Amino acid sequence: MSPTAVNENPNGIANGVAPNGVQKPTTGNEMLAAASEARAKAISTLPAEGFDWRITLEGKVIAITGANRGIGLGIAEVCLANSAARVYSLDLLEPTDDFLALQKRFTGRLLYLQTDVTVEESIQAAVDKIVEESGAIHGMIANAGMTKHQPALDFDRPQLEKLFNLNVFGAYFCCTIAAKKFIELGVKGSIVITSSKVSDGPNRAAPSAPYGGTKAAVRNMARTLAMEWSKYGIRVNSISPGFVRTAMTYYVETAPDWDLKMQYYGGMPRLALPQELGGAYVYLLSDCASYTTGIDIPVFGVVGAW
Ligand SMILES: NC(=O)c1ccc[n+]([C@@H]2O[C@H](COP(=O)([O-])OP(=O)(O)OC[C@H]3O[C@@H](n4cnc5c(N)ncnc54)[C@H](O)[C@@H]3O)[C@@H](O)[C@H]2O)c1
Repeated sequence: MSPTAVNENPNGIANGVAPNGVQKPTTGNEMLAAASEARAKAISTLPAEGFDWRITLEGKVIAITGANRGIGLGIAEVCLANSAARVYSLDLLEPTDDFLALQKRFTGRLLYLQTDVTVEESIQAAVDKIVEESGAIHGMIANAGMTKHQPALDFDRPQLEKLFNLNVFGAYFCCTIAAKKFIELGVKGSIVITSSKVSDGPNRAAPSAPYGGTKAAVRNMARTLAMEWSKYGIRVNSISPGFVRTAMTYYVETAPDWDLKMQYYGGMPRLALPQELGGAYVYLLSDCASYTTGIDIPVFGVVGAW
């Protein structure tokens, strides 16, 4: 760096003095002291003293978007089986029969708040309601999403906007609204975004370039949010499922070459059950993952290795 670079003015800081009058550290030792002061102010993600190191969600209140069916509902089941105090599904649709059955199994611990994650006010209202009812929120899983299978040349702008609005903007605002609430409450929250195997390559079973773009966007975003929010004790990660048996993948097993493809797969030549993803989410939501942030966990068996 040239000697003058210190006084260049990208942030409105001139001659070593910030706009608020604070002297900007310029020597190596001043910088070390400032960094150590900043570290002291940050909230550590370390668990509380006496932590028993069990992977559990005991006492935790978790919000999952799109948990009325499919992957979200599977994750909800595994969170509840691992002692989450309460799981809230923030979903647009009315609860499915499967959701109601799970609600019966975990009486009073699985709740539904009608929410449209493409509308910020709706997400905010849901998060406020969770805190009002349950006293806190500790985890947010930004999971609601959709796909559209169609050759790239056939997509028009409204179709693209619909996909990005739900998968990217929806996830983004779920993350930021949850993070602001964690900061307000002084909670070391954990955020997990559902990305996809196709975030780093094509879906060979069906053309869906814009969908892959949305999943790459959220996977990348998780890493930067993790960096920005670690000083608040907030962790942000993503999970990339392969093919999971839900309404979204009805077509996979109907492909004429499915049986043939299966002949070549060792290991797990099948679609995953939504619950089979749950352990990864539970880990990331738990205090045992206190040093895990900014990563993506791929959960796609062998089928996803195409
Ligand atoms: N199924 C798979 O194989 C697969 C693989 C990788 C990633 N994913 C991702 O997993 C997530 C869940 O997928 P799924 O297969 O369970 O899909 P799904 O269609 O079965 O479930 C999606 C849920 O999201 C809800 N939802 C839709 N729009 C919403 C909105 N605006 N506000 C709130 N909720 C809304 C739906 O009502 C539904 O309950 C998605 O993000 C998807 O991209 C799925």
